[in-house]
Amino acid sequence: MKQTSLILDGGLVTDIPLGKTKRLKHDKGAVLLCNVNGTFFAVSDRCTHEDASLYLGCLKGERVHCSLHGGEFCVKTGAPLTEPVEVALQTYVVTVEAGRIRVSVPLSETR
Ligand code: FES
Repeated sequence: MKQTSLILDGGLVTDIPLGKTKRLKHDKGAVLLCNVNGTFFAVSDRCTHEDASLYLGCLKGERVHCSLHGGEFCVKTGAPLTEPVEVALQTYVVTVEAGRIRVSVPLSETR
């Protein structure tokens, strides 16, 4: 069977406290893993407004705030919430098995 996704290891659920994030790098960018009240979500780490890492911003509830111009996104859906961002973030499938987090990223985004 042909592999279509890269599986990123997000580490243990206990490594990312509530309300905190972790950046997972791959060859073409990075994924922002977010702990929202004990549930993990993953979105692209790159703001869709300009070239800024959302890891440098902050997470409040399910909203991630970009440190460069203050735009916000919903990390559950990737939707833009406040100006100046208008384009949604890519979201990724997160699985947790035996306390370890894994994020599935399409190979087309990593090569
Ligand atoms: S680069 Fe993120 S809001 Fe402008």
